[in-house]
Amino acid sequence: MSIKFEINGTSVELDVPDDTPLLWAVRDELNLKGTKFGCGIGLCGACTVHVDGVAQRSCITPLANVAGSNITTIEGLSENGDHPLQQAWVEAQTPQCGYCQSGQIMQAASLLAYNADPSDAEIETAMNGNLCRCMAYVRIKKAVKLAVTNAAAKQEAQNA
Ligand code: FES
Ligand code: FES
Repeated sequence: MSIKFEINGTSVELDVPDDTPLLWAVRDELNLKGTKFGCGIGLCGACTVHVDGVAQRSCITPLANVAGSNITTIEGLSENGDHPLQQAWVEAQTPQCGYCQSGQIMQAASLLAYNADPSDAEIETAMNGNLCRCMAYVRIKKAVKLAVTNAAAKQEAQNA
């Protein structure tokens, strides 16, 4: 079955079975390797992408479900890798092995797109399903908060 959608601003059409997981299409058909395979059953968050701006586990999303949708992967989050979260991730030296990190950033980006100033509890709730085998949770939360602070400071400077 031919399925059309948009990914990182480019229209694509794939001729694959309609129950093909979105993660397979992203990694194997479109060669976007930033999105990772962890558990394959929707429980770890390593495969998180945005579907129409909302974080979704691509390993359990059949491709037929995203026909006509806009998908964003970590490669498309920003043009130059300078999304506030990506900058904060570098500043806070967040990753350890790095495997979970694109999923973590995509999950956090979905949160900040809808809530620019989340509370600690809101961050914890939003990030709760993204697992990190390296236990970098303290630095992940620190980076999300740093992105919020940096974005607010930038906005304030622009308004001055
Ligand atoms: S690989 Fe998709 S949630 Fe774990
Ligand atoms: S940094 Fe290693 S799994 Fe999260």
